[in-house]
Amino acid sequence: DWSMAAFRDAKIAEIRAQVGDSRVICGLSGGVDSSVVAVLLHEAIGDQLTCVFVDTGLLRMGEAQQVVDLFRKHYNIPLIHRDASDLFLGELDGVTDPEAKRKIIGRLFIDVFQEEADKIQDAGFLAQGTLYPDVIESVSFSGGPSVTIKSHHNVGGLPEKMNLKLVEPLRELFKDEVRILGRELGLPDDFVGRHPFPGPGLAIRIPGAVTKEKADILRKADAIYLEEIRNEGLYDSIWQAFAVLLPVKTVGVMGDARTYDHVLALRAVTSVDGMTADSYPFDHAFLSRVATRIINEVRGINRVVYDITSKPPGTIEWE
Ligand code: XMP
Repeated sequence: DWSMAAFRDAKIAEIRAQVGDSRVICGLSGGVDSSVVAVLLHEAIGDQLTCVFVDTGLLRMGEAQQVVDLFRKHYNIPLIHRDASDLFLGELDGVTDPEAKRKIIGRLFIDVFQEEADKIQDAGFLAQGTLYPDVIESVSFSGGPSVTIKSHHNVGGLPEKMNLKLVEPLRELFKDEVRILGRELGLPDDFVGRHPFPGPGLAIRIPGAVTKEKADILRKADAIYLEEIRNEGLYDSIWQAFAVLLPVKTVGVMGDARTYDHVLALRAVTSVDGMTADSYPFDHAFLSRVATRIINEVRGINRVVYDITSKPPGTIEWE
């Protein structure tokens, strides 16, 4: 009789048998998958686990702090928090091509992760949140931007270089099953129910060159949008919702002054697996409220538009 509780117990036994008394390193991204892996490993091997969280500076509002609070304070899991935001933003300076952004971020992520992991004594294993769809996707897709999906979460090539073996306890699971397992392990509901977030983060939600100033503007607008979605009780009906800061300025009017500021696009989609998607049919009153709040509260944005493109022909992200 299959249940998630039985799966959890079986995995815990399997992990113990696999790693023995070796130390395991787990990279945390702030996302659901790596968080579930970390908590599962913590249950299995306690303080033989060390987590490494590489902060790219491209996360959403408050996200880095949430990760640190949850793992270090709540779970008391040893966590190395490396703030590498200056490094990432520096290397991204002037880069506009979406795939070039991904490559830079992926390479830096591995470099920084390795630097931190090298300091951990006696590590024998690297734990990763590889899911069943990742296992399939890595063999069956070619061409187009989605080839690089997850390219930087799954720190490719690193285990061999560091002489580490892999622990991938989620390899048989789909995303919805990972969420069930997360709840089974006692992860907070709002953490487990989080929308997917791409590894390259806000860098691919700022078409054109990424700057700290733009990332800060986007973070504020995105937080307002998500807050309104949560307040309306819509968060769990949406697969993914986010804002995109466009490299276009338009004219507006504020009081009796002319403004010349960025356009912000809002995106929200329903989807089963991210492979196809439809734009979420918000009512206009909701969208107007969000637009008004963003323009009033965020300096640097004076116009808001809603993206109604399906996938295909669009993608979920704009880059
Ligand atoms: P697209 O934009 O291709 O996105 O329709 C499908 C899903 O994949 C996510 N995505 C990424 N995730 N690294 C990631 O880890 C990436 O480079 C990347 N690009 C897209 C996207 O957020 C959506 O959930």
